[in-house]
Amino acid sequence: MERPSRVWLVFTMLLSFPISSFSLEKLNMCMDAKHHKTEPGPEGELYQQCAPWRENACCTAKTSAEAHEDNSYLYNFNWNHCGVMSKKCKKHFIQDTCFYECSPHLGPWIQPADDTWRKARILDVPLCLEDCNSWYNDCKYDVTCKENWHKGWNWTSGTNRCPAGAQCQKWTDVFPTAQSMCEKIWSNSYKHTTYTKDSGRCMQMWFTGQNPNTKVAEFYLNQGSRTETAMITSLTLSLAVLLSMV
Ligand SMILES: *[C@@H]1O[C@H](CO)[C@@H](O)[C@H](O)[C@H]1NC(C)=O
Repeated sequence: MERPSRVWLVFTMLLSFPISSFSLEKLNMCMDAKHHKTEPGPEGELYQQCAPWRENACCTAKTSAEAHEDNSYLYNFNWNHCGVMSKKCKKHFIQDTCFYECSPHLGPWIQPADDTWRKARILDVPLCLEDCNSWYNDCKYDVTCKENWHKGWNWTSGTNRCPAGAQCQKWTDVFPTAQSMCEKIWSNSYKHTTYTKDSGRCMQMWFTGQNPNTKVAEFYLNQGSRTETAMITSLTLSLAVLLSMV
């Protein structure tokens, strides 16, 4: 009895080792997208709103400065497609750009993308309630013509314009709730949650000091690998039992 179980214990450890090291890699990584660095690292010169990521970032200083510009070379994106976007609204889109370009902790939510301009995207990143709500509240008196800002624009002029048939409307007519805005605007890159910033269960777009999202990504990765480990352990145990019966 003792022999086979030892053998299988070693076998389980060998099997789970590559899985846990694979997960560790996901804790600190950059996605394969348009402007991301290949590896995260210190960036002491990150600009203004992107400064919180200085200790460890996927964006360069140049990208961080561009994130603050209208129609920047990053995406040629025109925030002012239905008249000038208010300053207090725009600061959330700048922060959203910093978060997307700079965060090294999005690994658990990175997915393959079939876009021409990137190989990877983020899907369902659990956003803290306060960050989604303040974004919505600061934009709700602005105007837009589209619910999904990733797709369907008229780009013939080189920048995004409202396509034929899409009227400029009150923000709240396009996005009736904070949830609809946070989830739909970037094709479900974000998921609305009721978790607050102190929960450790949601990603923070706005923070100061030590990056709080390291621990959040760790939590969601452990959740996933715990399921994998449990599956492998039970499989191995059943095999061990079967073998000891022969
Ligand atoms: C796109 O915009 C141009 C003008 O910039 C216009 O001539 C064209 O009809 C528009 N196309 C669509 C599909 O809306």
